[in-house]
Amino acid sequence: MTKVISLFNQAGGVAKTTTAQNLGYHLSLRQHRVLLVDIDPQASLTTFMGLEPSDLEKTIYSALVSEEDDEPVPIHQDVHGMDLAPANILLANAEQELIFAELREFRLKEVLSPLLDNYDFILIDCPPSLGILSQISLVASTHVLVPIQCQFKALKGTDSLLKTVARVQRKLNRSLKIAGFFPTMYSANNSLDQRTLESIREQLSPIVTIFTPLPRATAVAEAAEYGKPLALCPNKNPAILHIFDEIAIAMEEI
Ligand SMILES: Nc1ncnc2c1ncn2[C@@H]1O[C@H](COP(=O)(O)OP(=O)(O)OP(=O)(O)O)[C@@H](O)[C@H]1O
Ligand SMILES: [Mg+2]
Repeated sequence: MTKVISLFNQAGGVAKTTTAQNLGYHLSLRQHRVLLVDIDPQASLTTFMGLEPSDLEKTIYSALVSEEDDEPVPIHQDVHGMDLAPANILLANAEQELIFAELREFRLKEVLSPLLDNYDFILIDCPPSLGILSQISLVASTHVLVPIQCQFKALKGTDSLLKTVARVQRKLNRSLKIAGFFPTMYSANNSLDQRTLESIREQLSPIVTIFTPLPRATAVAEAAEYGKPLALCPNKNPAILHIFDEIAIAMEEI
């Protein structure tokens, strides 16, 4: 069964896209067939993978808003060992255009369904919002993985995040599971980060898995600029690669 995992958190800049890209790459290293889906109009994942969003004629948007039932999701094959369904800024229109679409909540699930047999993992990189694009991602997913920044306000948004997931589980996707929370941007020598990580563990570990935190490291930000997963960049960071490996193994077991 294909695992469809949404990287979801309405907070911005918490490493959703970074996680989608690098987790995807480490799953592909483990011989899994991986599709990355960019469902964020900012198109960061598309950029992080080395494509120029404004050059793309067809993106996930074309399939989402098409009146034809069989408009395929445009896929770029074998981009750093993964397939990519890219996005660009046009996707911002989908929010409006889907308002009146019939069964709009199921639109992404519907367009991804013919692809399920081709992949072991589909990772959906959500935008930083609780809007329709995140909602259709959660409806299309079997699991949700939540990157959460180790900063003091991190836990503030958790309530509305968990409520959103619960609402989707109740009304639209009963089988949606939380794969876990992935603390990110962690500086081990910063006492505030340490305290935040402790609070995250204290409050959330009774209900969800909390993975090993991803340290803050220049190499991660640099990789985004290179347009490649960290493992393919000159300045690798073995400790961080190990964490992505660990989380890839965990995703095999969910
Ligand atoms: N561990 C890290 N250390 C240093 N920089 C990082 C780390 N993880 C991510 N970054 C950088 O932080 C920025 C935000 O990361 P990313 O784009 O993955 O977050 P996001 O949650 O997808 O953001 P958005 O909400 O805008 O979609 C990027 O420039 C990224 O390269
Ligand atoms: Mg992002």
